[in-house]
Formats: sequence, C-alpha cells, structure tokens
Amino acid sequence: MSHSPEAKYRLNYSAPNFKIHTTELNFHLDDHHTEVLNRMDIECLTEGASLELDGENLQLVALAINGRVLSEDEYSQTDKQLIIPNVPERFELVVETLIDPAGNTSLEGLYKSAGTFCTQCEAEGFRKITYYLDRPDVLSVFTTTVNATKAEHPYLLANGNPTAEHQSGERHAVTWHDPHPKPAYLFALVAGDFDLLEDSFTTQENREVLLQVFVDKGNLPRAKHAMASLINAMKWDETRFNLTYDLDIYMIVAVDFFNMGAMENKGLNIFNSKYVLADSSTATDQDFLNVESVIGHEYFHNWTGNRITCRDWFQLSLKEGLTVFRDQEFSADLGMRAVNRIQDARIIRTHQFEEDAGPMAHPIRPDRVVEMNNFYTVTVYNKGAEVIRMLHTLLGESKFQQGMALYVQRHDGEAVTCEDFVKAMEDASGLDLVQFRNWYSQAGTPRVTVTETYNAENQTYLLTLTQSTPATPGQQVKHPFHIPLRVEFVSNSGEPMALHLLGADKPTTILELREQQQVFEFHNVNEKPVTGLLADFSAPIRLEFTRPETEYLAIIAGGNDPFLRWDAVQQLYFGALHTAVADNSAVALTPALIAVLQKALADENSDPAMNALLLQVPSEEALSQEYDIIPVEAICRAVSELRLALAKSLQSELMQAWQQVDLGSNALNSSTIAKRMLGNTALSFLALLPEDASIQRALKAQFKAANNMTLQFGALQAAVHANHPIASELLTDFAGQWQGETLVMDKWLAAQATAPISGTVSKIQKLTEHSAFNWGNPNRIYSLLASFTHNLGQLHHSSGAGYEFMIAAIKRLNASNPQVASRLLSPLLKWRRLPENQQAMLKSQLVSLSKLPNLAPDLYEKVNQTLTDN
Ligand code: TRP
Ligand code: ZN
Repeated sequence: MSHSPEAKYRLNYSAPNFKIHTTELNFHLDDHHTEVLNRMDIECLTEGASLELDGENLQLVALAINGRVLSEDEYSQTDKQLIIPNVPERFELVVETLIDPAGNTSLEGLYKSAGTFCTQCEAEGFRKITYYLDRPDVLSVFTTTVNATKAEHPYLLANGNPTAEHQSGERHAVTWHDPHPKPAYLFALVAGDFDLLEDSFTTQENREVLLQVFVDKGNLPRAKHAMASLINAMKWDETRFNLTYDLDIYMIVAVDFFNMGAMENKGLNIFNSKYVLADSSTATDQDFLNVESVIGHEYFHNWTGNRITCRDWFQLSLKEGLTVFRDQEFSADLGMRAVNRIQDARIIRTHQFEEDAGPMAHPIRPDRVVEMNNFYTVTVYNKGAEVIRMLHTLLGESKFQQGMALYVQRHDGEAVTCEDFVKAMEDASGLDLVQFRNWYSQAGTPRVTVTETYNAENQTYLLTLTQSTPATPGQQVKHPFHIPLRVEFVSNSGEPMALHLLGADKPTTILELREQQQVFEFHNVNEKPVTGLLADFSAPIRLEFTRPETEYLAIIAGGNDPFLRWDAVQQLYFGALHTAVADNSAVALTPALIAVLQKALADENSDPAMNALLLQVPSEEALSQEYDIIPVEAICRAVSELRLALAKSLQSELMQAWQQVDLGSNALNSSTIAKRMLGNTALSFLALLPEDASIQRALKAQFKAANNMTLQFGALQAAVHANHPIASELLTDFAGQWQGETLVMDKWLAAQATAPISGTVSKIQKLTEHSAFNWGNPNRIYSLLASFTHNLGQLHHSSGAGYEFMIAAIKRLNASNPQVASRLLSPLLKWRRLPENQQAMLKSQLVSLSKLPNLAPDLYEKVNQTLTDN
C-alpha cells in the first residue's frame, strides 16, 4: 500500500539541531555505480537530539563516526531518512553510498545526460546524492573531488576554485574548494567533454575573474552571446546594485537534458542549452533576449540567493521574486523597457491570474507544501517580482537601493526570511510596511473598482477606489492590500493634466490605496480628467473601470505611459470580444479603433515594437481569464474573427509594415529587432488572407530569407497558425533543413502544437512518434505537449480528445519524470470553470489519474487539491 504524501507547514519551522561545519565529498563516477564518499564535520546544537539525515534512492555502503564503523543497531533507515540516535557533541561522520546516475531519468540529483554527468540539487535533490541535512538553512563549506575516466570526461568541475589535480591510469581527479558556506541545494558537479569559450572580467575591486562557458562539441560559435550577456550582467550588477562577484572563476555549463531554465549553483551554473546557445541562423530574436535574461538571472542569484539564501523553502520568493525583478530591470536597462513591461504584465494577467483563480492558488510565500517542486510557480516568481516592484515604486530607486544595501549588510552569509527583507526595506526607508506584508501572506488577485465624480461648479474631482479579493482555497477572509496605483491625467482634448490631491504640493503620480474603499479628492480641476490608472502596471491587480471608447482614445492619443496606451487598445479589443461572446454575434470593430491602429502604423516616429504589441489581440487564454465559466467555443470564434477583421481592415498598412523589414539583415539591436517584431506580427495577420498571391509570395520570401531564424520561423508560424495553403510545404522544408538541430525542431513542434485549428490533437499524437520528439527530454515535451496545453480551443475541444491525450501523457511521465509531468497538469486543473460537457470529461480523466498506482507526490498534490477543493 502506498500512503499519501504529507504536507509541510510554514509555521512549523524549527531551527536545525546540527551544524555541518565542513563537507568533503569524493565522487568516483561510473554510469550505474557511482561511489559517493561524504565526510562531514558536525556539531550538535541541541543536546540529546538524534541526527536525522535525508536520503532517497541511496544504497548505504558504510557509516562511521570519528573513524569507528557503526554497527546496524546504532542507526536506522527509512526510505527517506537515516537516523543516528546517539551522537557526540562534535564529530566526524563519514557516509559512503552508491548511486545510479545513468538510470536517473528524473534529472534531479546526479544524472547522466547525453554523455555528461551533472547535478541538479534545488530544491531537494541533494538527498539523492548522499545522506545529508538537505535544507537551505544548513550552510557548510564544501570541498569536492571528482574522479572519472579521462577520455570521456576531460573536464571535471565543481563549485569554487580548483585546488588539486590527480592522474592515475585511465582515470583522473580534480579537487575543488568553495570558501563560501552554502546550503546543499547550491552544490554542483559536472564531468564531460566540451568546447570551451573563455573570457575574463575585472571587477570594480580590480580582481580578475576567469569566465568559462562549456558547450557541446561543435557549438562554440553559439556560445558568444551567452558570454557577452554574462559580462553585461556582471557590469550591470556593479553599477546599479553595487554588487560584485566574489570568486576567481565563474563557469556556465550547457546541457541538453534539464527540467527548468537554469540553476545558480555557486560558481558553476548549469543551464538548459536553450538558454545558452544562440546564433542568428538557429535562434530567434526572442531566444537571444531570453539567453540574456536567464544568464542575468542566474548571475544575480550570486547575491540574492547564494550569499543571502532562504531559511526554508516557503521563503522561495525571497530569492526568486527579487532575482526576477533584478533580471527584468537588467533587460529593461539594456533593451526595450516599455516592451518588456507590457510582456511581463501579460504574463501576470494570463498565467498568474489563472493560478490565483485555481485550486493551487497560493501566496508568494506559501503556507502549505506537499511537493516543493510544485511551487516554482508564476506566483512565486513573477508575482513575487511584482511585489518587489511595488516596494520599488513606493520607496523610489534611491531608498530601494538603501534598503538593498542594508539587507546585504545585515544578512550576508545567512539563511533568512521574506520578513527579514521587508524589515530591511522598512528600516532603510522609514516607511510603514505593516499592511504591505499582506502581499506575502494572502493569495488571490485583488479587484479594484472605480467610480468618479466631477463637480464643475466646485472644480473638484473625486475618485473612489474599492478593493476586494475573492476567497482562495484555505483562505476565506482577505484583508485589504496596500496598493500603489500610478496615475496620469489627460484632458479630453488629449493634453496631459497635472492634478493635485487635496493638500498636496506636488502633482500626484501615485495613489496609495489601503482601505477597502478610499476617496481621493482633487481640487482646482477645470475639466473632468481622463484618468489613466495603473500606469506601468504598478500593481498585480484587476482594474474594473468601465468607460466609454472616447476616454480610451484620449489615453491613446495623449497618454504618456506606454503600458496605459497599450492597455487602452487592449480594453477596446476586450470590449469587442465580450460583446461578441455575450450576444453570440459577429465581432464588430469600431471605425475609431481602426483609425487609431492605422494612425500608429502610419506614424514614422512610432516604435515598431510598440505597434506590434498594439496589434496583438488578447489570446484565447487571456480572454478566458475574464470568465468564471469559460465559454471555450465562443471565445475561440470571437478571437479568430477579431484577427480576421483586423487583417481585412488593415491589409495595406500591414503590407507596408512588412515591407519595412530588411530580409537580408541579421543585426541584433533594438531597432532591427523591433522591425522584425512588427513584420512578423503583420505577416501573421496577412496569412489569414489566403487568396492574395502577394501575401503568399511574402510568406515564401521571408521563409527563405538569409540565414535568420526570426524571419524563417516567423513565416512558418504565420502560415501554420493561419492554416494557409502553403503551411504543409513550409513545414516539410523546415524539417528537411533542420532535422537533427533539436532546439530548432522544438520550434517546429511548438508551432504545430499551438495552431488554433481543428485536428490538432491527432496531429500532435502523430508528432510524438516523429524523430524530433523524445519522451525523455524535457525540452521536447515542453515544446510539443506544454505548448499544446495553452491551445485553449484544441485542449478543451468538445470531443474530449485533448484531455485523453494529455492525461495519458502525464501518466506515462509519472514514473520517469514527475516534475515535468506535474507542469503539464496545471492547465488541466481548471475543470470546474469549463462548460458542462468538458467539465464531465476532464473530471473523469482527472479521477482516473488520481487512481494511478505509485502516483508521484507532485501529481498527487495537484490532482488531490483540484478534486477535493470547495
Ligand atoms: N533556482 C532556479 C532558478 O530560478 C530554478 C531551478 C532550476 C529549479 N532547476 C530547478 C527549481 C529544478 C526546481 C527544480 O534559476
Ligand atoms: Zn531563480
């Protein structure tokens, strides 16, 4: 009988009973029989406590205290722990275990990926390597010796600096020492053969750091952008945050088999190869930007995560929210701030709001966890970053940086909590952040509704804001949040207006909503203003502010804030879509909206990237967030009608925008990227008009354009999503050209999986047998299957085929890679929000999943939560 995994609670935290001063690891690497020798200097902090070490799937070979081998009655073992009841005050413990890296398909712990040994220890993977206190508040100084055959593994890497090398026959060994105490989740080792790109960086303290990027043989030219991004990140962190790197060497290794994006192991980052490798013939502009952002993210963890780490895993957002905020600012400072901000807001609205509305809703600092791997979420990461951004908004850059400095000064070398971070911000700024802490403790998306009163006689303008947050599972009562709303005012003629709150001496730019309902009073207002609320998406909330089209047009014409101008257009799209869904009528675009888009496209001074974003209509998934019960078919019909209507009404402008793209250029600066963004967006609309021969020529011309993946893939995706007559020809050509290039073929899989066209399920089913797909590789699974889970119309097709296919896939992955299986399950948890027919079919699939023997804790937690919720 298997028993249900147990939950852990944040409030049950207790400090560790032992300190591990040093950890000396010795790895004798072998595919199926790797010996791990682990020698620890341990101090008991609580008299009489027994030593309970974590360990999973380990074969214990030997155990000794102070050189004396323990007999079997001196310790006990469960499938998760090794318990030694009577230990001295200070002692040396030696544990020897055997593990099977080549048989490890979970990609957690030590595993062998395409000939390379590598590790992934966050969150609780170190316990699959050796018995240990595998918790982030146990910090130890690690010394690691890696021993392997020389021919297959010329490079032997671990955290810190290399201190010794050793040869003997066919094997060799390298010893590494990391002087910075760290928790086990930051441990890493790599052994394999690579091409190596080297450079160096001189810190502001004038220390030279060796930089190394290790990639598969033959991929050296594709590593340049990663190296350049690393150097940019190191420089940026010194300039903007005054944070400097602290070891003599910084290594990045790219591997093909990896569950997530990348991992910030001290001095030895391990990356999914898709966030390292990039050249313009195989990577899109977005891929280049993603590499920059993930390289930055992992580098920034060196301070926010590694030097200052988490006390327990409930505090994950302490490092992740803050580090996402830092990587967002890095990308914004180096590139297109407004575009990035809009894309980040779109992620929150589409994916984080969905999580908040579902059975797994949790605060950015969760209170209850069954499987920690389930909490690497868009809430902890992206909403966590929004919470840091709100602090930044309330404090301003200078006070925020003072808060950061105080945080580092107080807690360097410690494992701390979100509370410690907020306290540092509070103490440095003098602001009262008591109520602000609700963002850490409460789940759910706050709704803010707005009413306005303008009194022409008194020249007063009253803005009444009301907030409420719907209950989430386990959290019925919600207290008001402290919400910063950035504002700007525009006159009806489209001029900026400076408004003063009653009693204020400066024009108002931020309203701080704290009460459940609050009235903001403005005086000497000579006409009713058009109020732009939530500028820069200043809080992760839903704003409910119904207003006439003319007011949106005023913001588009006279607003300053790019997010507000973009959002005004989005609101007009939403309005048209809602009406079509509610009335079961055709989508109608107003002449004013068309005119706005025509004007933007014709304006030579407008930013093409912003125009691309203005044209991007809400996705089916984004629209579904607006409904308690999701009218799947009506939403899909409306979105596709809206796209077709735009294509028809803007055809000549779109063609002109497309013609601005230089099909022969690979330049990678913001202005050429922006033009390609607009060109691809334009083409995606034009492809909806299949009878036009010039459009067909455009698709083909762009597809064949010089060595540029942004353009080639843009054309492919436009044709495939539009179900254009030449789609299958382009798919065949693309596969012929790129077979064997796995990261490129991932795009080919994803384009087909996301097509909003019927028959997609059976197409995907067939693609699982294509040589480009591989059930053992997470990138392939994400490209084909995870992409498909965001294809609203096809996943929730009324036949139920999408559910059957996905649940079968999840069952198949349950044993081999539960972490990946669990990521595929999330979009299926919203069965209660579906129409009756889909609801019944999906529920029965979920019930059958819940009965799978040996269901992994990752899946158990989610399926159990969704079936028992409410
Ligand atoms: N800390 C990593 C990051 O945000 C996340 C991560 C990488 C991870 N691999 C993982 C988390 C495996 C859980 C399991 O950069
Ligand atoms: Zn991170």
